[in-house]
Amino acid sequence: MYFITFEGIDQSGKSTQLDLLAAAAAKAGIDTLSVREPGGTPLGEQIRELLLGPEHDTMDAWTEALLYAAARVQLVKEVIKPALMQGKIVLSDRYIDSSLVYQGMARELGVDRILDLNLGATGGLMPDLTFVFHLDVAASRERLAGRGTAEDRIEGEPLDFHQKVEDGYRKLEEMYPGRIVGIDGGRSVEEVHADVVAACGERLGLEL
Ligand code: ADP
Ligand code: TYD
Repeated sequence: MYFITFEGIDQSGKSTQLDLLAAAAAKAGIDTLSVREPGGTPLGEQIRELLLGPEHDTMDAWTEALLYAAARVQLVKEVIKPALMQGKIVLSDRYIDSSLVYQGMARELGVDRILDLNLGATGGLMPDLTFVFHLDVAASRERLAGRGTAEDRIEGEPLDFHQKVEDGYRKLEEMYPGRIVGIDGGRSVEEVHADVVAACGERLGLEL
């Protein structure tokens, strides 16, 4: 029915908010399906390992963009489209906007070229609503340090890369004001969740 995506820099609270929205929807008797990128299919999970393993430090930016797109195609065809056809609301932790920002902007491959690649690959499936959680890069690094597990290949990029990503999401929000809702992710989990629920009501008419 609706396709809702969650975006932002690492640790900005995407998966926390996705889970809370799924729980609120379940309480309201609304059927949802949660997915995350890259991954969510057998092929996609293998591509995820290739993409995030710190050992592939010589990966070219175009290889990276193509692998994210390849994992996305499988997820759209095998999981997202069938669930939408069944009338479910699909919640995705990252989608095309991640590629526009990380590969198009931060890796400087060009937003238009990455958009074309991904629109072709997915048959043009765009989200109905996208949340972008904004968080200072410093706060994101603090949350990451608190996690206590090793950084993946993208998390291990220098601070200026992550700053480009955060700046990129702000640009994207200006490009797609009808679809993207920017939310200050630096507040409490409950305050952020209240904004998410309110936007689902205002933009999609969902009563949660
Ligand atoms: P992401 O999916 O964007 O990487 P997570 O939802 O996994 O982010 O959250 C990253 C970390 O930050 C987790 O330890 C989570 O508990 C914590 N966290 C999430 N939202 C908030 C918040 N609003 N305030 C403080 N900590 C948060
Ligand atoms: P993940 O562990 O899922 O991170 P997070 O919890 O922050 O979502 O790792 C996904 C990483 O891949 C993340 O650093 C962002 C990056 N990424 C891209 O660079 N391009 C993309 O198209 C996608 C989907 C993710």
